[in-house]
Amino acid sequence: MAAAAQQRAAELREALTEHNHRYYVLDAPSISDAEYDRLFRELQALEAEHPELAQDDSPTQRVGAPPSGAFEAVAHLQAMQSLNNCFSEEELGEFDRRVREMLSRTPIEYVAEPKLDGLAVSLIYERGSLVRGATRGDGQTGENITANLRTIRQIPLRLRGQAPDLIEVRGEVYLPRAGFLKMNEDALRDGGKVFVNPRNAAAGSLRQLDSRLTAKRPLAMYAYAIAAHEGYALPACHSEVLAQLGDWGFSVSELAEPVQGLEGLLAYYNRISEQRTELPFDIDGVVYKVNDLAAREELGSVARAPRWAIAHKFPAEEAVTTLEAVEFQVGRTGALTPVARLQPVFVGGVTVSNATLHNLDEIRRKDVRIGDQVVVRRAGDVIPEVVRALLEKRPPDAAEIQQPAQCPVCGGAVVREEGEAVARCSAGLSCRAQLHNALIHFVSRKALDIEGLGEKLLAQLIELGHVRRAADLYALDQDTLAQMERMGEKSAANVVAAIAAKRQTTLARFIYALGIREVGEVTAQALAAHFGDLDPIIAASEEELLAVPDVGPIVAAHLHQYFRDEAHLELIQELRNAGLHWPQVTTAAREGPFLDQSFVITGTLEGMSRDEAKAWIESLGGKVTSSVSKNTDFLLAGEAAGSKLAKAEKLGVTVLDLAAARKLAGEG
Ligand code: IVH
Repeated sequence: MAAAAQQRAAELREALTEHNHRYYVLDAPSISDAEYDRLFRELQALEAEHPELAQDDSPTQRVGAPPSGAFEAVAHLQAMQSLNNCFSEEELGEFDRRVREMLSRTPIEYVAEPKLDGLAVSLIYERGSLVRGATRGDGQTGENITANLRTIRQIPLRLRGQAPDLIEVRGEVYLPRAGFLKMNEDALRDGGKVFVNPRNAAAGSLRQLDSRLTAKRPLAMYAYAIAAHEGYALPACHSEVLAQLGDWGFSVSELAEPVQGLEGLLAYYNRISEQRTELPFDIDGVVYKVNDLAAREELGSVARAPRWAIAHKFPAEEAVTTLEAVEFQVGRTGALTPVARLQPVFVGGVTVSNATLHNLDEIRRKDVRIGDQVVVRRAGDVIPEVVRALLEKRPPDAAEIQQPAQCPVCGGAVVREEGEAVARCSAGLSCRAQLHNALIHFVSRKALDIEGLGEKLLAQLIELGHVRRAADLYALDQDTLAQMERMGEKSAANVVAAIAAKRQTTLARFIYALGIREVGEVTAQALAAHFGDLDPIIAASEEELLAVPDVGPIVAAHLHQYFRDEAHLELIQELRNAGLHWPQVTTAAREGPFLDQSFVITGTLEGMSRDEAKAWIESLGGKVTSSVSKNTDFLLAGEAAGSKLAKAEKLGVTVLDLAAARKLAGEG
């Protein structure tokens, strides 16, 4: 009996380990989650029944264990070095020159890898079994966090294939962005700790004394080096080390690749910089390593960093500067946005002199004052923001930021509606700033898409009184336009032609162009598809509006209110009189494989824009809404899907990639 149980347990362990690897490392599961759970429970039951069969490297041992007091200090078998940094081409050139000189050869082959923003860990395997996992600590001594590391699915508990007597693997534990967002969402809901970035969240998760908590965090690991080894000869180069790590069952960055010389390093850096915001995890730079391991021996180390590697870091994304003044900008709907005027500071690769302060509540919450030293953050393409003030450095004369009582542009009254975070100028389109922003929106690509009517040109046309309302655009002639700054006869003629050409538009674009509060592109499309023409939308009650997918009570209220305003109806009439028109919409297909199925689209789909994907789904009878709820049937997720993916997973909504959706539609 015991022999049979032992054999079955071994089979189950092998199968579960294999499925784990397929799921977490290869991203290619071959069985359903339910089937996996069945095997898992069978093994759990067997191990419970026969405690003598329990094994530390069993897949059942990933769920965490009760706290065991403080972490034990452990000496590393080999020092865990750190990397020297560089921030510029010149510094990188220096590095490459030194390597070439010391090795007397050129060009050098390097392996370039992303520099993950997580925590370095050391993993020791004896005869293929994970026996110890530790943090870097001070490089000589780390903390034993084996129980926590065991819970990370991308860390094999047993190595695949031929296992050496002893092997130490190094890598980076990190938290993918989607996991980080979900963790913070959960924390907000349950009153837990909210982390400022994925790195801190990963660190906090790894240092949990109760590994059952770590087990709940979606941590991941990339392996990037072999350190100590016994009964195993290292291959000749780093690329082969990475391949070996992959064969043993580790996750290795797909972005790692061999490159030649300085030119290759820079090309890699530029490419990764561009991809950075789309990656599913945070990186703070790239790492270059001499590929030839014998050459590494020759190069050796200085201080605590090897001469054969260097980290090329991205420019800092946070910097400290002085908040000199605050101005209030007036947006399309009259919303007043406080904008910080800063002493110019270099952050994230550009010089920043303005940053958003969002709204007055935010200012109060962060307690930011004029004259303060403030932390400014710039991430990717987003507008720089003031994160916080350095209270310990506050000058005695720092001034509180006051909300203006009058619109700084038109002098109109500023009002703040009950329950709203933003204050607004109440003057509507008679406020020059509101008109300007409304027109910028009106002609923008997703609205009427009129080319050549840039922000500056619109500002001039308003300033000189040529345009007082949107319909005035249609009365502009070539002579008037040609007199504007930086305009010639030819560009004036182009603008006139562009305005004329876009008299013919679509209902969805027209609705979106009106700039109704909370009515984005997707809602406008939903309204067009539902009602087919403008007049029924104008006439619709709030209840009728609520029947449109994607329209909730707030949007319905804004829409209803908008069309009850005489000035808006007049504006629409003027535009129609000016010749704006659109074909009636044939309401969404009432048949097809997606009939009545509700989709949300997120991330970047390969070879298909969001609009195209939406049109495709609708042509098959499905509907597309903008946010994931329990009524969502499918999430169509592309590359770099973020919080929507996390939410869908939380709600148990089926997630499809494009290929799966095509298959479902019978097209794949
Ligand atoms: S190699 C002796 N490769 O960066 C060199 N490190 O600043 C050992 N890191 O402590 C490190 N991604 O935590 C290496 N692809 C990568 C890395 C990486 C992130 C971290 C690691 C290390 C720190 C050094």
